Amino acid sequence: MQIRFADTRPQGDYALVVPVAGKDRSSLAVLGKAQQGVVAALDRQRFEGEPSSASEQFIADNGSVRRLLVVGMGSGEARGGEAAEKLGGTAAARLQTSGEKTAVIDLTGLGYDADAAARVGLGAALRSWRYDRYRTKLKDSQKPTLEEIVIVGGGAGAAERYGQRWAPVVEGVSLTRELVTEPANIIYPETFVERVRASVEGSGLELEVLDRAAMEKLGMGALLGVAQGSVREARLLILKWNGGGQGGQPTAFVGKGVTFDTGGISIKPAAGMEAMKWDMGGAGAVVGAMKALALRKAKANIVGICGLVENMPGGNAQRPGDVVTTMSGQTVEVINTDAEGRLVLGDAITYAQRNFKPGTIIDLATLTGAILISLGHEWAGLFSNDDGLADKLQQAGAESGDKLWRMPLAESFDRLIDSPIADMKNVGPREGGSITAAQFIQRFVENGVKWAHIDMAGKAWSDKAAATYDKGATGFGVRLLDQYVADVLER
Ligand code: BES
Ligand code: MN
Ligand code: ZN
Repeated sequence: MQIRFADTRPQGDYALVVPVAGKDRSSLAVLGKAQQGVVAALDRQRFEGEPSSASEQFIADNGSVRRLLVVGMGSGEARGGEAAEKLGGTAAARLQTSGEKTAVIDLTGLGYDADAAARVGLGAALRSWRYDRYRTKLKDSQKPTLEEIVIVGGGAGAAERYGQRWAPVVEGVSLTRELVTEPANIIYPETFVERVRASVEGSGLELEVLDRAAMEKLGMGALLGVAQGSVREARLLILKWNGGGQGGQPTAFVGKGVTFDTGGISIKPAAGMEAMKWDMGGAGAVVGAMKALALRKAKANIVGICGLVENMPGGNAQRPGDVVTTMSGQTVEVINTDAEGRLVLGDAITYAQRNFKPGTIIDLATLTGAILISLGHEWAGLFSNDDGLADKLQQAGAESGDKLWRMPLAESFDRLIDSPIADMKNVGPREGGSITAAQFIQRFVENGVKWAHIDMAGKAWSDKAAATYDKGATGFGVRLLDQYVADVLER
Protein backbone atom coordinates (compact mmCIF):
# COMPACT_ATOMS: atom_id res chain seq x y z
CA MET A 1 0.00 0.00 0.00
CA GLN A 2 1.31 3.37 -1.01
CA ILE A 3 0.76 6.01 1.64
CA ARG A 4 1.03 9.62 0.43
CA PHE A 5 0.40 12.99 1.97
CA ALA A 6 -0.87 16.02 0.09
CA ASP A 7 -2.13 19.54 0.75
CA THR A 8 -5.11 19.26 -1.53
CA ARG A 9 -7.22 16.49 -2.98
CA PRO A 10 -5.93 15.04 -6.26
CA GLN A 11 -7.74 15.03 -9.60
CA GLY A 12 -9.53 12.02 -10.98
CA ASP A 13 -11.10 8.89 -9.57
CA TYR A 14 -10.84 8.09 -5.91
CA ALA A 15 -12.96 7.17 -2.94
CA LEU A 16 -13.25 10.01 -0.48
CA VAL A 17 -12.98 9.30 3.24
CA VAL A 18 -14.22 11.92 5.68
CA PRO A 19 -14.02 11.40 9.44
CA VAL A 20 -16.75 12.66 11.77
CA ALA A 21 -16.49 13.15 15.52
CA GLY A 22 -19.47 11.27 16.88
CA LYS A 23 -22.75 12.91 15.99
CA ASP A 24 -21.01 16.17 15.11
CA ARG A 25 -21.40 16.56 11.35
CA SER A 26 -19.32 19.72 10.97
CA SER A 27 -16.31 18.05 9.34
CA LEU A 28 -18.60 17.21 6.41
CA ALA A 29 -18.34 20.82 5.31
CA VAL A 30 -15.51 19.66 3.04
CA LEU A 31 -18.22 18.08 0.88
CA GLY A 32 -19.57 21.46 -0.22
CA LYS A 33 -22.87 21.14 -2.04
CA ALA A 34 -23.14 17.44 -1.23
CA GLN A 35 -23.04 17.98 2.52
CA GLN A 36 -26.75 18.38 3.09
CA GLY A 37 -27.71 15.19 1.31
CA VAL A 38 -25.00 13.20 3.07
CA VAL A 39 -26.13 14.44 6.46
CA ALA A 40 -29.69 13.43 5.66
CA ALA A 41 -28.51 9.97 4.61
CA LEU A 42 -26.45 9.58 7.80
CA ASP A 43 -29.50 10.49 9.85
CA ARG A 44 -31.62 7.97 7.98
CA GLN A 45 -28.94 5.32 8.65
CA ARG A 46 -28.91 6.32 12.33
CA PHE A 47 -25.16 6.80 11.98
CA GLU A 48 -23.74 7.90 15.32
CA GLY A 49 -20.07 8.19 14.43
CA GLU A 50 -18.87 5.55 16.87
CA PRO A 51 -15.16 4.70 16.58
CA SER A 52 -14.47 2.31 13.66
CA SER A 53 -18.01 2.64 12.32
CA ALA A 54 -18.40 3.67 8.69
CA SER A 55 -21.14 4.70 6.32
CA GLU A 56 -20.73 4.21 2.61
CA GLN A 57 -22.58 6.39 0.14
CA PHE A 58 -22.25 7.65 -3.40
CA ILE A 59 -22.31 11.35 -4.07
CA ALA A 60 -22.36 13.53 -7.14
CA ASP A 61 -19.04 15.30 -7.46
CA ASN A 62 -18.17 17.51 -10.42
CA GLY A 63 -20.48 15.68 -12.77
CA SER A 64 -19.35 12.20 -11.84
CA VAL A 65 -20.24 9.74 -9.11
CA ARG A 66 -17.89 9.38 -6.19
CA ARG A 67 -17.78 6.80 -3.41
CA LEU A 68 -17.85 8.45 -0.02
CA LEU A 69 -16.89 6.73 3.22
CA VAL A 70 -17.84 8.59 6.37
CA VAL A 71 -15.81 7.15 9.26
CA GLY A 72 -16.76 7.60 12.88
CA MET A 73 -14.16 8.87 15.34
CA GLY A 74 -16.33 8.81 18.46
CA SER A 75 -16.80 12.00 20.38
CA GLY A 76 -14.72 13.76 23.00
CA GLU A 77 -11.83 11.67 24.24
CA ALA A 78 -11.37 9.85 20.93
CA ARG A 79 -8.44 11.88 19.63
CA GLY A 80 -4.74 11.25 19.58
CA GLY A 81 -2.67 8.51 18.04
CA GLU A 82 -4.86 5.52 18.68
CA ALA A 83 -7.96 7.17 17.22
CA ALA A 84 -5.92 8.30 14.22
CA GLU A 85 -4.71 4.75 13.59
CA LYS A 86 -8.25 3.47 13.89
CA LEU A 87 -9.41 5.95 11.26
CA GLY A 88 -6.72 4.88 8.80
CA GLY A 89 -7.32 1.22 9.57
CA THR A 90 -11.08 1.45 9.15
CA ALA A 91 -10.75 3.24 5.82
CA ALA A 92 -8.22 0.72 4.52
CA ALA A 93 -10.25 -2.30 5.63
CA ARG A 94 -13.47 -0.99 4.09
CA LEU A 95 -11.93 -0.02 0.77
CA GLN A 96 -9.27 -2.66 0.23
CA THR A 97 -11.35 -4.88 -2.06
CA SER A 98 -13.96 -2.25 -2.98
CA GLY A 99 -12.86 -1.80 -6.57
CA GLU A 100 -11.34 1.60 -5.82
CA LYS A 101 -7.65 2.07 -6.58
CA THR A 102 -7.16 5.28 -4.65
CA ALA A 103 -8.59 6.53 -1.39
CA VAL A 104 -8.29 10.07 -0.17
CA ILE A 105 -8.67 10.65 3.55
CA ASP A 106 -9.56 14.29 4.11
CA LEU A 107 -8.58 15.42 7.60
CA THR A 108 -9.51 19.05 7.01
CA GLY A 109 -11.39 20.39 10.00
CA LEU A 110 -10.23 17.67 12.35
CA GLY A 111 -7.43 19.77 13.80
CA TYR A 112 -4.83 17.05 13.30
CA ASP A 113 -1.14 17.87 13.49
CA ALA A 114 1.57 16.14 11.47
CA ASP A 115 2.03 13.45 14.13
CA ALA A 116 -1.62 12.48 14.18
CA ALA A 117 -1.86 12.57 10.38
CA ALA A 118 1.16 10.28 10.16
CA ARG A 119 -0.55 7.85 12.53
CA VAL A 120 -3.54 7.76 10.16
CA GLY A 121 -1.10 6.54 7.53
CA LEU A 122 0.36 4.00 9.94
CA GLY A 123 -3.06 2.55 10.75
CA ALA A 124 -3.97 2.35 7.08
CA ALA A 125 -0.72 0.66 6.08
CA LEU A 126 -0.82 -1.85 8.93
CA ARG A 127 -4.44 -2.78 8.31
CA SER A 128 -3.80 -3.27 4.58
CA TRP A 129 -1.31 -6.09 5.06
CA ARG A 130 -2.43 -9.45 3.75
CA TYR A 131 -0.77 -12.60 2.49
CA ASP A 132 -2.29 -14.17 -0.59
CA ARG A 133 0.65 -16.32 -1.67
CA TYR A 134 -1.25 -19.59 -1.35
CA ARG A 135 -4.64 -18.39 -2.57
CA THR A 136 -4.55 -19.27 -6.23
CA LYS A 137 -8.29 -19.18 -6.79
CA LEU A 138 -9.38 -15.82 -5.43
CA LYS A 139 -12.31 -14.45 -7.39
CA ASP A 140 -11.72 -11.07 -8.97
CA SER A 141 -14.19 -9.55 -6.54
CA GLN A 142 -12.10 -10.83 -3.61
CA LYS A 143 -8.82 -9.43 -4.83
CA PRO A 144 -7.46 -6.23 -3.33
CA THR A 145 -7.83 -3.22 -5.57
CA LEU A 146 -6.73 -0.37 -3.34
CA GLU A 147 -3.21 0.71 -4.23
CA GLU A 148 -2.80 4.12 -2.73
CA ILE A 149 -4.07 6.14 0.20
CA VAL A 150 -3.61 9.89 0.06
CA ILE A 151 -3.93 11.77 3.33
CA VAL A 152 -4.99 15.38 2.91
CA GLY A 153 -5.12 18.18 5.45
CA GLY A 154 -2.57 16.84 7.92
CA GLY A 155 -0.38 19.89 7.71
CA ALA A 156 3.28 20.25 6.88
CA GLY A 157 5.68 17.58 8.02
CA ALA A 158 3.26 14.65 8.01
CA ALA A 159 4.96 12.94 5.08
CA GLU A 160 8.37 13.27 6.67
CA ARG A 161 7.12 12.09 10.03
CA TYR A 162 5.52 9.06 8.44
CA GLY A 163 8.57 8.21 6.36
CA GLN A 164 11.01 8.56 9.23
CA ARG A 165 9.09 7.11 12.11
CA TRP A 166 6.37 4.79 10.84
CA ALA A 167 7.17 3.44 7.37
CA PRO A 168 10.05 1.43 8.93
CA VAL A 169 7.70 0.07 11.57
CA VAL A 170 5.26 -1.06 8.87
CA GLU A 171 8.15 -2.89 7.20
CA GLY A 172 9.09 -4.58 10.47
CA VAL A 173 5.54 -5.59 11.36
CA SER A 174 5.02 -6.94 7.84
CA LEU A 175 8.11 -9.14 8.10
CA THR A 176 6.91 -10.51 11.44
CA ARG A 177 3.43 -11.23 10.12
CA GLU A 178 4.84 -12.99 7.08
CA LEU A 179 7.04 -15.26 9.20
CA VAL A 180 4.19 -16.00 11.61
CA THR A 181 1.74 -16.71 8.78
CA GLU A 182 3.96 -19.06 6.81
CA PRO A 183 3.34 -22.73 7.60
CA ALA A 184 5.99 -24.88 9.22
CA ASN A 185 6.81 -26.82 6.06
CA ILE A 186 7.98 -23.54 4.57
CA ILE A 187 9.47 -21.73 7.57
CA TYR A 188 11.75 -23.86 9.74
CA PRO A 189 14.98 -22.77 11.42
CA GLU A 190 17.11 -22.73 8.27
CA THR A 191 14.50 -21.00 6.08
CA PHE A 192 13.57 -18.57 8.85
CA VAL A 193 17.16 -17.36 8.75
CA GLU A 194 17.23 -17.15 4.96
CA ARG A 195 13.89 -15.30 4.79
CA VAL A 196 15.15 -12.78 7.33
CA ARG A 197 18.48 -12.42 5.59
CA ALA A 198 16.79 -11.57 2.30
CA SER A 199 14.36 -9.21 3.98
CA VAL A 200 16.94 -7.14 5.89
CA GLU A 201 19.51 -6.93 3.09
CA GLY A 202 20.80 -3.40 2.77
CA SER A 203 19.30 -2.32 6.11
CA GLY A 204 22.65 -2.17 7.85
CA LEU A 205 21.82 -5.01 10.23
CA GLU A 206 24.67 -7.41 10.86
CA LEU A 207 23.71 -11.09 10.81
CA GLU A 208 25.37 -14.02 12.46
CA VAL A 209 24.10 -17.60 12.42
CA LEU A 210 25.10 -20.57 14.56
CA ASP A 211 24.38 -24.08 13.33
CA ARG A 212 24.10 -27.22 15.41
CA ALA A 213 27.82 -27.92 15.48
CA ALA A 214 28.57 -24.41 16.73
CA MET A 215 25.92 -24.70 19.43
CA GLU A 216 27.19 -28.12 20.46
CA LYS A 217 30.62 -26.60 20.98
CA LEU A 218 29.10 -23.96 23.23
CA GLY A 219 27.27 -26.60 25.25
CA MET A 220 23.75 -25.46 24.45
CA GLY A 221 22.27 -28.79 25.54
CA ALA A 222 18.83 -27.46 26.40
CA LEU A 223 18.13 -25.82 23.05
CA LEU A 224 19.63 -28.76 21.15
CA GLY A 225 17.69 -31.26 23.26
CA VAL A 226 14.46 -29.71 22.01
CA ALA A 227 15.66 -29.80 18.42
CA GLN A 228 16.98 -33.35 18.37
CA GLY A 229 13.69 -35.03 17.42
CA SER A 230 13.40 -33.03 14.22
CA VAL A 231 15.14 -33.51 10.88
CA ARG A 232 15.19 -29.70 10.68
CA GLU A 233 18.42 -28.53 12.25
CA ALA A 234 18.38 -25.84 14.89
CA ARG A 235 19.80 -22.37 14.35
CA LEU A 236 20.68 -19.42 16.54
CA LEU A 237 20.17 -16.18 14.65
CA ILE A 238 21.91 -13.05 15.89
CA LEU A 239 21.09 -9.60 14.51
CA LYS A 240 23.20 -6.62 15.52
CA TRP A 241 22.32 -2.97 15.22
CA ASN A 242 24.90 -0.44 16.35
CA GLY A 243 23.23 2.92 15.92
CA GLY A 244 24.27 4.28 19.28
CA GLY A 245 27.98 4.72 18.78
CA GLN A 246 30.87 2.99 20.52
CA GLY A 247 30.82 1.66 24.05
CA GLY A 248 27.95 1.27 26.43
CA GLN A 249 26.16 -1.96 27.19
CA PRO A 250 23.76 -3.06 24.47
CA THR A 251 20.18 -4.08 25.06
CA ALA A 252 19.32 -7.62 24.05
CA PHE A 253 16.02 -8.82 22.62
CA VAL A 254 15.65 -12.59 22.78
CA GLY A 255 12.89 -14.47 20.95
CA LYS A 256 11.43 -17.95 21.20
CA GLY A 257 11.50 -19.35 17.70
CA VAL A 258 9.86 -22.77 17.80
CA THR A 259 8.92 -23.07 14.15
CA PHE A 260 6.50 -25.86 15.03
CA ASP A 261 5.57 -27.18 18.44
CA THR A 262 4.04 -30.65 18.38
CA GLY A 263 4.86 -30.98 22.06
CA GLY A 264 7.46 -33.63 21.22
CA ILE A 265 7.04 -36.99 23.01
CA SER A 266 4.66 -35.22 25.43
CA ILE A 267 2.60 -34.72 22.30
CA LYS A 268 -0.21 -32.20 22.04
CA PRO A 269 -3.80 -33.17 21.15
CA ALA A 270 -4.58 -33.03 17.42
CA ALA A 271 -7.33 -30.41 17.65
CA GLY A 272 -5.89 -26.99 16.98
CA MET A 273 -2.30 -28.16 16.74
CA GLU A 274 -1.92 -26.28 13.44
CA ALA A 275 -1.78 -23.11 15.54
CA MET A 276 1.66 -24.15 16.71
CA LYS A 277 3.13 -22.90 13.44
CA TRP A 278 3.12 -19.52 15.16
CA ASP A 279 5.13 -20.69 18.14
CA MET A 280 7.95 -18.64 16.65
CA GLY A 281 6.05 -15.38 17.25
CA GLY A 282 8.58 -14.13 19.80
CA ALA A 283 11.46 -14.60 17.37
CA GLY A 284 9.29 -13.06 14.66
CA ALA A 285 8.77 -9.98 16.81
CA VAL A 286 12.49 -9.69 17.50
CA VAL A 287 13.47 -9.74 13.81
CA GLY A 288 10.62 -7.38 12.86
CA ALA A 289 11.70 -4.92 15.53
CA MET A 290 15.35 -5.15 14.49
CA LYS A 291 14.39 -4.43 10.90
CA ALA A 292 12.27 -1.45 11.92
CA LEU A 293 15.04 -0.05 14.13
CA ALA A 294 17.63 -0.42 11.40
CA LEU A 295 15.43 1.16 8.74
CA ARG A 296 14.76 4.17 10.92
CA LYS A 297 18.40 4.27 12.00
CA ALA A 298 17.61 4.17 15.70
CA LYS A 299 20.29 5.74 17.89
CA ALA A 300 20.78 2.71 20.09
CA ASN A 301 22.87 -0.44 20.31
CA ILE A 302 20.71 -3.53 20.19
CA VAL A 303 21.29 -7.19 19.64
CA GLY A 304 18.44 -9.50 18.66
CA ILE A 305 18.81 -13.22 19.29
CA CYS A 306 16.43 -15.92 18.07
CA GLY A 307 16.51 -19.49 19.27
CA LEU A 308 15.15 -21.46 16.29
CA VAL A 309 14.08 -25.08 16.66
CA GLU A 310 11.33 -27.47 15.66
CA ASN A 311 9.84 -29.55 18.48
CA MET A 312 9.01 -32.98 17.08
CA PRO A 313 8.55 -36.53 18.35
CA GLY A 314 10.71 -39.17 16.68
CA GLY A 315 13.24 -41.91 17.23
CA ASN A 316 15.83 -39.45 18.38
CA ALA A 317 13.51 -37.14 20.27
CA GLN A 318 14.14 -36.08 23.83
CA ARG A 319 12.28 -38.18 26.42
CA PRO A 320 10.47 -37.11 29.57
CA GLY A 321 12.94 -37.58 32.38
CA ASP A 322 16.00 -36.78 30.29
CA VAL A 323 18.53 -34.53 31.99
CA VAL A 324 20.23 -31.92 29.82
CA THR A 325 23.14 -29.61 30.59
CA THR A 326 22.59 -26.02 29.56
CA MET A 327 25.18 -23.55 28.29
CA SER A 328 25.09 -21.92 31.74
CA GLY A 329 26.29 -25.19 33.28
CA GLN A 330 23.03 -25.71 35.12
CA THR A 331 21.23 -29.01 34.55
CA VAL A 332 17.56 -29.51 33.78
CA GLU A 333 15.29 -32.51 34.20
CA VAL A 334 12.91 -32.44 31.25
CA ILE A 335 9.64 -33.59 32.79
CA ASN A 336 7.49 -32.48 29.87
CA THR A 337 8.92 -32.12 26.38
CA ASP A 338 6.10 -29.67 25.59
CA ALA A 339 7.61 -27.11 27.95
CA GLU A 340 10.29 -26.50 25.33
CA GLY A 341 10.27 -22.73 24.92
CA ARG A 342 11.94 -22.11 28.26
CA LEU A 343 14.69 -24.60 27.36
CA VAL A 344 15.38 -22.69 24.16
CA LEU A 345 15.29 -19.31 25.88
CA GLY A 346 17.56 -20.37 28.73
CA ASP A 347 20.42 -21.14 26.36
CA ALA A 348 19.71 -18.15 24.13
CA ILE A 349 19.83 -15.83 27.15
CA THR A 350 23.11 -17.35 28.34
CA TYR A 351 24.53 -16.85 24.86
CA ALA A 352 23.42 -13.22 24.90
CA GLN A 353 25.09 -12.57 28.25
CA ARG A 354 28.36 -14.36 27.44
CA ASN A 355 28.80 -12.66 24.10
CA PHE A 356 27.30 -9.20 24.45
CA LYS A 357 27.18 -8.33 28.17
CA PRO A 358 23.81 -6.61 27.81
CA GLY A 359 22.62 -4.36 30.63
CA THR A 360 19.02 -5.21 29.82
CA ILE A 361 17.44 -8.32 28.33
CA ILE A 362 13.88 -8.45 27.06
CA ASP A 363 12.65 -11.85 25.95
CA LEU A 364 9.46 -12.50 24.03
CA ALA A 365 7.79 -15.88 23.76
CA THR A 366 4.53 -17.65 23.03
CA LEU A 367 5.41 -19.52 26.17
CA THR A 368 2.36 -20.81 28.02
CA GLY A 369 -1.27 -21.68 27.48
CA ALA A 370 -1.71 -20.55 31.09
CA ILE A 371 -1.21 -16.88 30.15
CA LEU A 372 -4.32 -17.18 27.97
CA ILE A 373 -6.24 -18.35 31.01
CA SER A 374 -4.93 -15.35 32.98
CA LEU A 375 -5.14 -12.54 30.45
CA GLY A 376 -7.08 -13.84 27.45
CA HIS A 377 -6.26 -12.25 24.13
CA GLU A 378 -6.12 -8.63 25.30
CA TRP A 379 -2.91 -8.31 27.27
CA ALA A 380 0.43 -10.07 27.14
CA GLY A 381 2.00 -11.04 30.45
CA LEU A 382 5.03 -9.11 31.68
CA PHE A 383 7.49 -10.46 34.22
CA SER A 384 10.50 -8.50 35.37
CA ASN A 385 13.20 -8.34 38.01
CA ASP A 386 13.29 -4.53 37.72
CA ASP A 387 10.41 -2.16 38.45
CA GLY A 388 11.82 0.66 36.33
CA LEU A 389 12.15 -1.59 33.29
CA ALA A 390 8.67 -3.01 33.84
CA ASP A 391 7.16 0.48 34.07
CA LYS A 392 8.86 1.62 30.88
CA LEU A 393 7.75 -1.46 29.00
CA GLN A 394 4.18 -1.08 30.19
CA GLN A 395 4.25 2.53 29.07
CA ALA A 396 5.61 1.58 25.65
CA GLY A 397 2.88 -1.03 25.51
CA ALA A 398 0.17 1.52 26.21
CA GLU A 399 1.56 3.94 23.62
CA SER A 400 1.97 1.32 20.91
CA GLY A 401 -1.15 -0.73 21.59
CA ASP A 402 0.90 -3.84 22.45
CA LYS A 403 -0.47 -3.91 25.98
CA LEU A 404 1.30 -5.58 28.88
CA TRP A 405 0.02 -6.67 32.27
CA ARG A 406 2.56 -7.22 35.00
CA MET A 407 2.63 -10.60 36.70
CA PRO A 408 4.49 -11.58 39.87
CA LEU A 409 7.79 -13.35 40.41
CA ALA A 410 8.71 -14.76 43.82
CA GLU A 411 11.02 -17.19 45.57
CA SER A 412 8.01 -19.30 46.54
CA PHE A 413 7.26 -19.91 42.86
CA ASP A 414 10.91 -20.52 42.09
CA ARG A 415 11.02 -23.37 44.61
CA LEU A 416 8.34 -25.19 42.64
CA ILE A 417 10.76 -26.03 39.84
CA ASP A 418 13.44 -27.65 42.00
CA SER A 419 14.23 -31.17 40.81
CA PRO A 420 15.32 -34.17 42.89
CA ILE A 421 17.83 -35.25 40.24
CA ALA A 422 19.00 -32.04 38.55
CA ASP A 423 19.30 -28.32 39.32
CA MET A 424 15.75 -27.70 38.12
CA LYS A 425 12.89 -29.30 36.24
CA ASN A 426 11.21 -27.70 33.27
CA VAL A 427 7.67 -27.65 34.66
CA GLY A 428 6.00 -26.83 37.95
CA PRO A 429 2.42 -27.59 38.95
CA ARG A 430 -0.45 -26.63 36.66
CA GLU A 431 -1.40 -23.68 38.83
CA GLY A 432 0.59 -20.54 38.11
CA GLY A 433 2.03 -22.13 34.99
CA SER A 434 3.07 -18.84 33.39
CA ILE A 435 4.86 -17.75 36.54
CA THR A 436 6.88 -20.92 37.06
CA ALA A 437 7.82 -20.70 33.36
CA ALA A 438 9.12 -17.17 33.99
CA GLN A 439 10.94 -18.34 37.12
CA PHE A 440 12.66 -20.98 35.02
CA ILE A 441 13.91 -18.35 32.59
CA GLN A 442 15.03 -16.12 35.44
CA ARG A 443 17.44 -18.83 36.60
CA PHE A 444 19.48 -18.03 33.48
CA VAL A 445 19.66 -14.28 34.10
CA GLU A 446 22.98 -13.25 35.61
CA ASN A 447 23.35 -10.91 38.59
CA GLY A 448 23.02 -7.24 37.78
CA VAL A 449 21.20 -7.77 34.49
CA LYS A 450 17.82 -6.10 34.16
CA TRP A 451 15.46 -8.58 32.60
CA ALA A 452 11.89 -8.69 31.39
CA HIS A 453 9.99 -11.63 29.98
CA ILE A 454 6.92 -11.17 27.83
CA ASP A 455 4.57 -14.13 27.49
CA MET A 456 2.66 -13.33 24.31
CA ALA A 457 0.93 -16.69 23.71
CA GLY A 458 -2.43 -14.92 23.48
CA LYS A 459 -1.22 -12.18 21.17
CA ALA A 460 0.74 -13.51 18.19
CA TRP A 461 -2.39 -14.62 16.35
CA SER A 462 -5.92 -13.25 16.38
CA ASP A 463 -9.10 -15.00 15.35
CA LYS A 464 -10.77 -11.67 14.76
CA ALA A 465 -9.85 -8.51 12.94
CA ALA A 466 -8.97 -5.33 14.85
CA ALA A 467 -8.16 -1.70 14.03
CA THR A 468 -4.66 -2.34 12.69
CA TYR A 469 -4.72 -6.00 11.70
CA ASP A 470 -6.97 -8.52 10.00
CA LYS A 471 -7.60 -12.02 11.33
CA GLY A 472 -4.32 -13.90 11.59
CA ALA A 473 -0.82 -12.77 12.47
CA THR A 474 -0.85 -9.53 14.46
CA GLY A 475 2.83 -8.59 14.48
CA PHE A 476 2.61 -8.17 18.25
CA GLY A 477 5.84 -7.07 19.89
CA VAL A 478 7.39 -5.11 17.04
CA ARG A 479 5.79 -1.82 17.94
CA LEU A 480 6.33 -2.50 21.64
CA LEU A 481 10.08 -2.94 21.24
CA ASP A 482 10.35 -0.07 18.77
CA GLN A 483 8.52 2.26 21.16
CA TYR A 484 10.62 1.11 24.10
CA VAL A 485 13.79 1.95 22.17
CA ALA A 486 12.42 5.35 21.16
CA ASP A 487 11.30 6.22 24.69
CA VAL A 488 14.15 4.80 26.74
CA LEU A 489 17.28 4.29 24.65
CA GLU A 490 17.11 7.17 22.21
CA ARG A 491 16.43 9.95 24.66
N1 BES B 1 3.87 -23.10 22.69
C1 BES B 1 3.23 -23.57 23.86
C2 BES B 1 2.38 -22.52 24.54
C3 BES B 1 1.11 -22.13 23.85
C4 BES B 1 -0.05 -22.82 24.09
C5 BES B 1 1.07 -21.04 23.01
C6 BES B 1 -1.22 -22.43 23.49
C7 BES B 1 -0.10 -20.67 22.41
C8 BES B 1 -1.25 -21.36 22.65
C9 BES B 1 4.26 -24.05 24.86
O1 BES B 1 5.42 -24.57 24.34
C10 BES B 1 3.63 -25.13 25.66
O2 BES B 1 3.34 -26.14 25.11
N2 BES B 1 3.45 -24.89 26.95
C11 BES B 1 2.83 -25.83 27.80
C12 BES B 1 3.61 -25.89 29.07
C13 BES B 1 3.21 -27.02 29.98
C14 BES B 1 3.63 -28.33 29.38
C15 BES B 1 3.87 -26.81 31.32
C16 BES B 1 1.41 -25.36 28.05
O3 BES B 1 1.19 -24.16 28.19
O4 BES B 1 0.52 -26.20 28.07
MN1 MN C 1 5.22 -26.64 23.91
ZN1 ZN D 1 5.92 -23.93 22.46
